[in-house]
Amino acid sequence: MSGTVLVGAQWGDEGKGKITDLITPNFDFVVRFQGGNNAGHTVIHGDVKLALHLIPSGIMYPQITPVIGNGCVIDPKVLLEEMKMLDGAGFSTQRLLISGNAHLIMPWHLALDAASEQQLGSNEIGTTRRGIGPAYMAKSARTGIRVQDLLDPQIFNLKVTTTLAEVNETLIKLYGQQAFEAEQVVADYLRYAEKIIPHISDVSQVLNEALKNGQQILFEGAQGTLLDLDHGTYPFVTSSSCTAGGATIGSGVGPTAIKKVLGIAKAYITRVGSGPFPTELNDETGKMLSELGGEVGTTTGRLRRCGWYDAVIIRYAAQVNGLTDLCITKLDVLSCLPSIKVCVAYECDGKRYTTVPGSQSDFHHAVPIYEELPGWETDISHCRRFEELPSEAQDYINFIEARAGVPVSMIAVGPDREQTIMSGW
Ligand code: IMP
Repeated sequence: MSGTVLVGAQWGDEGKGKITDLITPNFDFVVRFQGGNNAGHTVIHGDVKLALHLIPSGIMYPQITPVIGNGCVIDPKVLLEEMKMLDGAGFSTQRLLISGNAHLIMPWHLALDAASEQQLGSNEIGTTRRGIGPAYMAKSARTGIRVQDLLDPQIFNLKVTTTLAEVNETLIKLYGQQAFEAEQVVADYLRYAEKIIPHISDVSQVLNEALKNGQQILFEGAQGTLLDLDHGTYPFVTSSSCTAGGATIGSGVGPTAIKKVLGIAKAYITRVGSGPFPTELNDETGKMLSELGGEVGTTTGRLRRCGWYDAVIIRYAAQVNGLTDLCITKLDVLSCLPSIKVCVAYECDGKRYTTVPGSQSDFHHAVPIYEELPGWETDISHCRRFEELPSEAQDYINFIEARAGVPVSMIAVGPDREQTIMSGW
């Protein structure tokens, strides 16, 4: 039995979609275990380019069972739109399994997300405003509404009515927003339910059965290590467990099922939204990385903040995820640079850190200490074997590998599936 977890090793947007799509044929199941439609995976499959937000990338392979686990939060309206888009593009969504224990994003979660961000003003988190935080808040408060509640219209109605009695007060009195009509919400959601109910499944049971039968499962992480609720740059994080441990909680398999943990990192680093970012480049180089790397958010269309590769963060990601493998994406974006910097430590108030500082205040003030490596200044997008890379690019990867303490077993040198150097996959 064997499970592989794929996680973002930075702040998300590492190119996980392409890598998932690439390795998916080795698996029988692809499982989303956390997050919701705050994620955005661009997958180029043959001539087709699709942006997926909630449905696992494996949907594009007919032999694979795509699964949305209990750790996810689901906006049913968005889910149905995505299913319609995929079916229209010729990728059947009939096999999709959805855990009945996953929580529903309700319309007021979106309103509360936006209102709370507005209230925070310049201290805002910079959320995707998809209702993710409020949906997980309701889950933790044990007042959430789950996918399985759609099976019982009476219970569903009761939960919506009870929740709205309180939420409407908050929306009106605290935020000066409009109230929601329970009847309308119930009618909309029970309409969505007709199309969602056939996909509801006991996901934990299905996956454990599959493991017993020797089938292979890929757990597809969304966002990234530093956006993890516990291990990220709190409070500038998302509200779910994006690190590898989240795969077991968010799907109902035990940790002994996980044999490999693949961390995905860009050859530089980006971040969307607010929060500390020691190696951020607010200069021409940052602008160039943004342009050459096409660094625009898939979900919100926001420009991503860009910076030099941070080896301290990757070592931290290796630690909290138990990475067994590292994949470096977008190496080709660095091809135009005469020299490349890598952050190897931080300095905070005269103290040197080679690990991520435990105190957020220190991390906010961390000044990166760089080592500079020579660039290769030549096109590498045609390289398919490590030995074909210019020696400077090989040195860059070797440097990253040594600093991470994890083997780099995959390197992406362009957006297409073939533009990848792989060993052992
Ligand atoms: P939320 O997940 O919408 O609550 O947003 C919380 C933080 O996570 C914000 O900084 C978002 O920009 C960030 N975030 C959420 N999803 C993604 C993603 O898929 N890629 C990168 N950043 C994300």
